[in-house]
Amino acid sequence: MNIALGADHGGFSLKQTVVDELTKLGHTIVDCGARAYDKLDDYPDFARAVGAAIQRGDATRGIVICGSGVGAAIASNKLRGIRACVCHDTYSARQGVEHDDLNVLCLGARIIGDELAKEIVRAFASAQFSTEARFHRRRAKVLEIERDQA
Ligand code: RB5
Repeated sequence: MNIALGADHGGFSLKQTVVDELTKLGHTIVDCGARAYDKLDDYPDFARAVGAAIQRGDATRGIVICGSGVGAAIASNKLRGIRACVCHDTYSARQGVEHDDLNVLCLGARIIGDELAKEIVRAFASAQFSTEARFHRRRAKVLEIERDQA
């Protein structure tokens, strides 16, 4: 799967770990920056770039890393077609995809360590949206909210 990945200065320390883990699993990274540590960069720019890669069809899912994951999630959820959440446990990362069709995982590099982050991205990348009707009905209602706000 193509996975878009972006990180601001708060998330930069975790970015390469996530790249290595996903690459090892056979995924292709669409690198949305930052390509170097810059303490003045801003998380909305990376959230926007990851979301745009998904909207264009260049990536199926995305990961945005900032210091807490919170800003990344707030910015990502402003983008049409993006369903983002901070998941700092494997259950949420897997179930978020299975039940809610989560397509952008947000991580906080100041909150979790490398090993937990690797397990979380594995859970996120390997999960599939359920075929059960109730989950599709709920996603349709979420998309309706998005349309109403447009
Ligand atoms: C950057 O210092 C920090 O505020 C940002 O990475 C993030 O944690 C925002 O939610």
